Amino acid sequence: MSDHTLAARLDLAISIAEEAGRMITKAREEQGFAHHLKKDNELVTDVDIAVDELIRQRLEEHFPGEARLSEELAPESALQVDAPRLWVVDPIDGTVNFAQGLRHVAVSIGWMENGVAKVGVVHAPFLAETFSAAEGLGAFCNGQPIKPSNADSLAHTLVGTGFPYRKEARKVLLKRLEAVLDHCQDIRRNGAAALDICDIACGRLDAYYETVSPWDFVGGWVIAREAGARVGHLYEVPQAIPVDLYPEHLLIAAPGVYAAMEELLLAADQK
Ligand code: IPD
Ligand code: CA
Ligand code: CA
Repeated sequence: MSDHTLAARLDLAISIAEEAGRMITKAREEQGFAHHLKKDNELVTDVDIAVDELIRQRLEEHFPGEARLSEELAPESALQVDAPRLWVVDPIDGTVNFAQGLRHVAVSIGWMENGVAKVGVVHAPFLAETFSAAEGLGAFCNGQPIKPSNADSLAHTLVGTGFPYRKEARKVLLKRLEAVLDHCQDIRRNGAAALDICDIACGRLDAYYETVSPWDFVGGWVIAREAGARVGHLYEVPQAIPVDLYPEHLLIAAPGVYAAMEELLLAADQK
């Protein structure tokens, strides 16, 4: 066992995420950062990399030697799925929003032990919100307990989702989109998966589905689960990969609409 309790890990992760958030707001005020394109025309800025480096340093100071999977500095560590302790970091979730001056931007930090996600922090610097949770300790936004909505029918389900950067990968999602627009209340594409998931946790959205990368969802997944939302996958998770790290075909919803959303999306995929 490590020396840190879950509560101590959570407190440190919150302070690291909030320090990273201050770096992000300062960078926006100064507007001096450069934009680049990585694979698949995906945007990355100097700030994404600098924030990833700050978080890397802080985690190494507090948790020396623990494995890290992070979008800009260590994306390949996804292969380290069997590390006994693993930090999963998205330094800026919502990079396009960040670059455009929009406010749905977050730092996401998750921590897993033996394949189980146990700590999650999602801090949104421009919204002044910090979502946090640890296994068995509840879920909070700015220190206040949160819970998902009581939605119990598709007609009252406001759905969040996102689309991959690769245009060809978007086409297959149109059938799901059509089904959601036909049967649910409406849809939102806010541009930061970690915040979409926290919006399920606190009842602002009722369901979220998407295929993402591990760093987009692990922090929010812990928060949503601890808040009482139902978290799962539309299709079976390959045996070699921990369920809590597998980022494909996620479905996260208020408990009263999870089953109906699952049925709706799976039927759409069959069309
Ligand atoms: C993206 C956002 C977006 C989601 C994309 C992600 P990034 O993360 O979470 O909402 O639809 O799939 O890649 O690139 O801004 O860190
Ligand atoms: Ca992301
Ligand atoms: Ca990112």
